[in-house]
Amino acid sequence: MNIKVVAGDITELGVDAIIVNLFEGVKSPGGATGAVDKALDGAISQLINKGEIKGKLNEITQIHTLGKISPGTVVVAGLGKQGNFDLNKVRGITAAACRTLRKSEARRIATILHGAGAGSISPENSAQAIAEGAFLGLYSFRQHITKTSDYGEIDELSIVERDESKIPALKASVTKGRIMSESAILARDMVNQPANFMTPTHMAEKAKEVAETWGLGFEVLEKEGMAKLGMGALLGVAQGSSQPPKFIILSYRGDESSDKTIGLVGKGITFDSGGISIKPSEKMDEMKGDMGGGASVIAAMRALGEMKPKVNVTGLIPATENLPSGNALKPGDILKALNGKTIEVANTDAEGRLILADALSYANRIKLSPVVDIATLTGACVVALGDVCSGVFSNDQDVSARVLRAGDEAGERMWQMPMYEEYDDLDKSEIADIKNTGDKSRSGGAIAAAKLLAEFAGDTPWVHLDIAGTFLSNKEQGYLPKGATGIPVRTLVNFVLSAATES
Ligand code: BES
Ligand code: ZN
Ligand code: ZN
Repeated sequence: MNIKVVAGDITELGVDAIIVNLFEGVKSPGGATGAVDKALDGAISQLINKGEIKGKLNEITQIHTLGKISPGTVVVAGLGKQGNFDLNKVRGITAAACRTLRKSEARRIATILHGAGAGSISPENSAQAIAEGAFLGLYSFRQHITKTSDYGEIDELSIVERDESKIPALKASVTKGRIMSESAILARDMVNQPANFMTPTHMAEKAKEVAETWGLGFEVLEKEGMAKLGMGALLGVAQGSSQPPKFIILSYRGDESSDKTIGLVGKGITFDSGGISIKPSEKMDEMKGDMGGGASVIAAMRALGEMKPKVNVTGLIPATENLPSGNALKPGDILKALNGKTIEVANTDAEGRLILADALSYANRIKLSPVVDIATLTGACVVALGDVCSGVFSNDQDVSARVLRAGDEAGERMWQMPMYEEYDDLDKSEIADIKNTGDKSRSGGAIAAAKLLAEFAGDTPWVHLDIAGTFLSNKEQGYLPKGATGIPVRTLVNFVLSAATES
């Protein structure tokens, strides 16, 4: 799909369908919707008066124009209450309208800039959100379906703006939205891909392909390299699998004048069976997506390669399967991580923190700062925050505030969790430096995991994002399809961009 920004009157465009909008409770539409209503001899107002259009959030009404104006279909998208309106609702209603039009065979469509006249939303931000809503909302993962889909694709979406002077800025916003979306979609594709198509080797190949396309540095540490460095925790998790582990390193250098480099570290468990502490089989298939953190790092690096901000970033992805076998890690085993600390493996299903212990130690060794890690880490985080928010854990309030702001801009909800020192006891081991599971009652499980990571982040300003509840959606909602969401790719990109503009 191509997204254009055009000047002109939306009723006169040579397109199949146009999207206008209505806030809840508005009886006579104004602005562009009002102009369309007039051109249709009051058809929209009549439907409002009859109660068929209420303007409720995500309400989609299709009206056939029967030759009165050039576009054959008008979609009236409900924006909900004006006081509750925000950019994420622009993404959501654009997605809903585009999906409806795709089903009715529209190929070329146009939309007005939602919310841009109504206070806090700028036309530029609205244009970016429309682009993201359209790309992300029309996504589907059909790679393994041989049957053709029962709907066509939308070829072109025009965003219509009356004021010609605003067009160049709006075009730049659409480009930003496109890059954000294509990157999030890269992460979705990787997460949706089953584990037999997304092994650690496939993940490294994908990272290499991204690096070659977008001019990033690429390196991969094999098992021997990991052993030489002393990555005992990652190797411990990998020893149960016959797939070779990979430690993937991507680097983007946009500021040669600076010796500072931000670190993004993503959990890359391409399948998490739990290992010897095996998981129940119900929903075990979802654990093909346990590399969602790693995928989000590869995807964010891809975005940086195209956006080229003035900043340096290195992405680290420890990738392996977590499987039971005769060689597998056993509950009670003790592993030594790259920084020399020993970890008692009380439960082999708490493998994410093990591989991240080595990756965070490595980030420290090569002096990355600040470091953000992203991981589908704990079921406990899902219990705490559901599928609405990712959990934020940090040792640095300034950096975590920047991550929270980046998430807010992206419409990817985040909630900060406490890291009080009283929680340190959760990971106490009697026979090693630290234990990989918190207390048997599982109380404070998401914090216990974060506390182990904090031990390996050391003094580096560090933020941990637990995306266990948000990397998948169990239903289509707004611009999120069922399946992989691509969270938190757009947050990571915003976070890095905020560092670039600061310097
Ligand atoms: N990958 C899982 C966490 C997870 C659960 C992600 C649900 C997404 C959805 C992780 O490796 C895990 O199994 N964690 C255990 C830790 C426990 C054994 C201390 C958990 O959360 O149950
Ligand atoms: Zn696990
Ligand atoms: Zn896991």
